[in-house]
Order: sequence, then structure tokens, then C-alpha cells
Amino acid sequence: MSSKSRLQAITGHIAPPEDTPTVVVEEEVPPKEPSPEFPQNLRTIFPPLELEEHPVDEARNLRVAVVGAGISGIVAGIFLPAKVPNIDLVIYERNDDIGGTWHTNIYPGVRCDVPAHAYQATFEASDQWSTAYAEGSEIKAYWKRLVAKYDLVNKFIRLNSRVDKAEWSEERGKWLVTVTSNGKIFEDAVDFLVTATGHFADPRLPDYPGRDEYEGHLRHSSNWDPNFDPTGKRIAVIGNGASGLQVVPQLQKVAARVDHYARNKTWVAAPIGGENLARFVADHIDKARTSPEEYLKFRKELEVQLFSRFGGIFKDGEKSKDAKIAITKLMKDRLGDRTDLLDSILPDFTPNCRRLTPGPGYLEALTADNVDYVTAPIERFTRTGIQTVDGKHREVDAIICSTGHDVSFSTAFPVHANGTELQAAWRPGGDPGFPDSYLGLAAPQVPNFMTVLGPNATGPAGTLCHAVESQVTYIAKVLRKISSQGIRSLAPTVAATRDFRAYCESFFPRTVMSQYCSSWYNGGIKGGRIHGLWPGSAAHVTFVRREPRWEDFEYTYVNSQGNRFGWLGNGWTTRDVKANDGVADGGLDLTPWLQKGALNGDVDIRQYHEGWWNV
Ligand SMILES: Cc1cc2nc3c(=O)[nH]c(=O)nc-3n(C[C@H](O)[C@H](O)[C@H](O)COP(=O)(O)OP(=O)(O)OC[C@H]3O[C@@H](n4cnc5c(N)ncnc54)[C@H](O)[C@@H]3O)c2cc1C
Ligand SMILES: NC(=O)c1ccc[n+]([C@@H]2O[C@H](COP(=O)([O-])OP(=O)(O)OC[C@H]3O[C@@H](n4cnc5c(N)ncnc54)[C@H](OP(=O)(O)O)[C@@H]3O)[C@@H](O)[C@H]2O)c1
Repeated sequence: MSSKSRLQAITGHIAPPEDTPTVVVEEEVPPKEPSPEFPQNLRTIFPPLELEEHPVDEARNLRVAVVGAGISGIVAGIFLPAKVPNIDLVIYERNDDIGGTWHTNIYPGVRCDVPAHAYQATFEASDQWSTAYAEGSEIKAYWKRLVAKYDLVNKFIRLNSRVDKAEWSEERGKWLVTVTSNGKIFEDAVDFLVTATGHFADPRLPDYPGRDEYEGHLRHSSNWDPNFDPTGKRIAVIGNGASGLQVVPQLQKVAARVDHYARNKTWVAAPIGGENLARFVADHIDKARTSPEEYLKFRKELEVQLFSRFGGIFKDGEKSKDAKIAITKLMKDRLGDRTDLLDSILPDFTPNCRRLTPGPGYLEALTADNVDYVTAPIERFTRTGIQTVDGKHREVDAIICSTGHDVSFSTAFPVHANGTELQAAWRPGGDPGFPDSYLGLAAPQVPNFMTVLGPNATGPAGTLCHAVESQVTYIAKVLRKISSQGIRSLAPTVAATRDFRAYCESFFPRTVMSQYCSSWYNGGIKGGRIHGLWPGSAAHVTFVRREPRWEDFEYTYVNSQGNRFGWLGNGWTTRDVKANDGVADGGLDLTPWLQKGALNGDVDIRQYHEGWWNV
């Protein structure tokens, strides 16, 4: 068979794109005398590949912009430089300090609603949390310590720097990121863009008529005025989500009166199954602090309770039924003889349709004489207070809106690429009008872009910090592939994204989250599409993301001839070059797999020869 007919037999069924000139089938290869100088007769590809003059393991420099310096951005700042050789990292943060949620939320009562021991970096444990549900300021201080330890502000984080938009330049293979920093606008051209902008970072005030007429103190709880003193004031608190549940008991203690506006019913109690994690921490923490081994045991026992909650999300599941019974009892007990309140609060939907919160002190506060629980819908704000549709007007000195945030899970700023603008496309009214992500991480047609804690990011159980760490690790793997394998850009395919959407659409109807309640899981739309959570357990999402499925991406390459193997370079590795130059004599390790344990057969074969950093 001539070389022409052989190649045609192999490639004949593939129609190569017209602009891909690298594969050319020769008309006829005339037999030639073998030439040691230039073996023409062995060459079948024209024009020939011009070898890139570098060792194969020379990672290309990659400028990466992360947007946001909350927990996600901080973890990115610690992980990416360690996991991605030759990264040139910048983290843009619009605020004047790090911490995200824990920097901006300073309302009275702000604290985590999972034990702080399980709400910290898994690789930097503090056993010194002052209480089970640590206050916001203590959480922020913890992350400040990490930022200082890893020197992130000096090295990577640019404070007071807001990203206003990002545009992908296909010509340059770069994101052009527009940043307003300390009043100045500049453009940063980066290879890869990571958004870590949170989904509770954009507070939303309710849009009632008369809002601008109100003359008292009006604030969102996520935008609390530290100079506002609630003592002796008449205060309205709108919203009975997690923030409202935390604010009300604190204000009740000092205010003259609290009108608490709750337009829908909600579950309030210990999380699924009614387990009392505060009690668990109180009972075990002293012993845990006696040694690292005891602390590890404590953490594992605590976190097993968080990671094993998944069964509680299924419709008609035993755990759902048990949770309903347990939480109803807890609420009854806490409300005492106020059965009138129980009727107004107890929802028809199953617990876990929206995020459960322990709400310490909330139900007790509702029973206090100075609290009015208002279920009548608000009609309008007035100059002096709030008018409800039943014609009642309540005068107040302050209105605190715990009315949630933009929970569209779209991007925080316009992201333009290949004719798509992601922020608008993912918001209601856009096309498709919901965050249509690839595995909660990326979007088709949007090259070199990933998001941390984006849509469908984390399981309904587990811990947030573990989820962030595993997402950032996934992104590190993607960045390593790009910088080490000559990739100019990658993006998930439309087909892979559609298949993931199909999975979500079949999975979520099995769960109580798809019942008729509004929550940030469904963008505040009762019975709406679930985009706030991963369709599976915390262990499930970790399993799925353990290795990127490279076949789900489409690629372009940096090699000037478009050859995907340009990165093979000139046949050398860096170690080969050094060895050749005689550096090996100085202790260069050309055989990193030869270790003491390995010689004795004392290695974990599952990990053996798998490390990306010491092949
Ligand atoms: C009051 C409150 C309590 C919570 N309690 C818990 C809890 O107990 N347990 C739990 O698991 N979760 C809790 N959460 C959810 C919490 O948001 C996450 O746990 C976590 O803090 C999110 O971290 P993040 O870094 O992803 O986002 P964020 O903390 O929101 O940080 C995002 C950062 O991005 C920055 N940013 C946004 N847009 C731009 C831009 N255009 N340019 C530059 N910077 C930008 C923001 O300023 C912010 O600093 C709570 C949320 C709130 C609001
Ligand atoms: N550690 C904690 O305890 C803690 C504290 C705060 C926040 N968080 C996290 O942050 C998430 C968000 O909590 P969040 O409380 O800030 O927001 P949220 O859960 O979205 O709750 C917003 C509340 O405001 C109400 N609301 C919205 N618009 C309204 C309007 N126009 N009129 C009247 N009521 C209105 C909503 O009512 P509907 O239900 O009727 O829509 C809901 O009760 C939580 O789920 C949790 O994950 C945790």
C-alpha cells in the first residue's frame, strides 16, 4: 500500500477543517536514496513540525486572575501557587480587606451556623474556637491569620480593586480584565480567569413602593451600620432567612419593639435529624484539645455528622420524615404555649426544601412581649414606617432588611466571550436564563474560565471549606494542563454541558428541594430550577471532580503550527539538561521514585509513580 493510500485509509473519513494545513497527504513519495542528513522518504507531514527549543517539562508562564478574596479566593491564593508551576497570580478584591462574607456581615448576631471546627481550612486547624458557632469577627480573624501566614496580601491580593468586566480576545488568547483600583481604571491581560465572587455578596433591598420616602434608618443586614445603636428603638426586621433569624434575637434584647415581617413560613431548629452539634462540641472539645490525636478524632466524629446528612433530602425518604417529626417537636418545645406562633411558622414543605439553620434564640425571641410577628404582606414603606395590605401601619425608627442577596448564581460582572455575555445569559430573562454550567465549574464557549462556589457547586451536606479546597484543586489541575501541555485555551463542550444539565433535571425532582418553597437553591423562585447545590452528596461531588474529564473540553494550542505536541519540545527534560551539563554530580535526583520505602516494598502502590511534581 502506498503511503498515500495508507494515510487516506486512516484519515479518509475525517474532513479536516480548511484552515488546518498541518496534515498534507503527499501526492506521491518518490523513492530516494536514504540520506542520514534529511530522510525525506520518511517524512509524511508537510510542512514539517519545527521543534520548539525547550525541555518538555518547562511549564509556560500563566497569568491567572482570581476575582474575590473571601474564603474561596484565599484558598486559591494558597493552593494555586503551590500546585501550578510558573503561575503569575493576582487576586482582585473590591473591598478594603479580605474575608468576603465575614468582612461585610457585621450585624449583631452574625455567626456561622455549622460548628466553626468544621468551618475552617482542612489543612490549617484551630482548636481554639471560643464557641461552637463562632461569631463573624472570630471567623474573619482566623482567615486574616492564614492570609498573613501565606503572605497573600503582599504577594497576590490587590485590595480596593473591583473587576468591572472581562472580555476574551480570541486573537490574543487572553482575557482583558477591566479593573477599577483606588479610583484608577486599568486593563489586565490574563491567560485564565477564576471568579470567586460568592453568592451572598450582593445584598438586595426589597423594592416596595415608598422605599425612598422612608426617613428613618434603612439598611440591609449585610450592610450594617456600625454606628447605629438599636437600644430603645422601634425596629422592623424584614425576612426570616438565616440572617433574619440571627438578627431578631439580638435586637429583641435591646430594642423597644421589633416588628418581624415574615412573608413565608420556615423551619427553625437544629439541622437535619435534629442533632445538636453545639452540644456535641461542648461535650467533646476539652478532651479534643488534649492532643492532636484527640482533636483529629473529635473532628472526624463531628464531620461524619455533616457528611452523612445527604439522605435527608429525598422526598418521602425516612430521614426526611424523621427530620420533620424531630424539628416540629423542637419548634413546639421552644415556642412553649405560643401555639398561635407555631401555626404561623410551621411550613407545608419538608425541611431541607430550603437551608436549615439552628437559629439559636430565635423562637424564644418571638415569644417575647416586645416582638410582633407580622405575616401580612407589606404594601409599602411610608415616611415613618411600614404599611401592610391589611391596612395596618407600624411606625418604626429603623428598618433592617434581611431580604437576601442576588442568588442568580450568575457572574458578578459582565463576561464576554465568543458572542456570549455570561452574566446576562445566566440571569433570568437571558438565554438560557439560568446558570447552565459544566459541572458547576465552567461554561461552554467561554474559554479559560472557571468559578469557585458557582452554580451547582457544593453538595447539600459536607463542609464548605472542603468543597472550596477540592474545587480549587480541580482548577489547579486544569491550569497545570494548560501551562504544561502547550494549551492556549480550553472550554467545556456544549454537548458535555447539556448532558450535565440533563442529569440535574432528572436528579433534583427526587429531592425535597424541588418542592414549593423559595430559597437560594432555586434563585428564590418557588418550585424553580435548582442551581444552588450539586446534584448529589458531598462525597459524590468530590468523586466526580477528582480528575477532570479532558474529553469534555475543546482545545486550541500555543504551538505556532497548531500541533498539539509542540510542547514535547526538543526531546529533553530539565533534569536531562542538568545531568548533561554535569549538575547530576551535585546531587540532581534523576530517579525520584527510588526512595527508602520503595526499596523495601513499603509504598502505597496506588500513589506510586503518580505524582505530577516528581515524575
Ligand atoms: C451572614 C452569612 C453567614 C453565613 N454562614 C455560613 C455558615 O455558617 N456556613 C456556611 O457553610 N456558609 C455560610 N455562609 C455562606 C458564605 O457566603 C460561604 O460560606 C463563604 O464565606 C463564601 O466564600 P466565598 O469566598 O466563596 O464568597 P464571599 O465570602 O462572598 O467572597 C466573595 C468576595 O468577592 C468579592 N467580589 C465580588 N465581586 C467582585 C468584583 N467585581 N471585583 C472584585 N471583588 C469582587 C467580594 O467583595 C467578596 O470579598 C454565610 C453567608 C452569609 C451571608
Ligand atoms: N450562619 C448563619 O446562620 C447564616 C446567616 C446568614 C446567612 N447565612 C447563609 O446565607 C444564606 C442567605 O441567608 P439570608 O438570610 O441572608 O437570605 P435568604 O435565606 O435568601 O432569606 C431572605 C429572606 O428575605 C425574605 N425576603 C426577600 N425579599 C423580600 C421582600 N421583598 N419582602 C419580604 N421578605 C422578603 C425572604 O422571604 P421568602 O422566603 O418569602 O422569599 C427570606 O425570608 C443562608 O441560607 C445561609 O446559607 C447563614
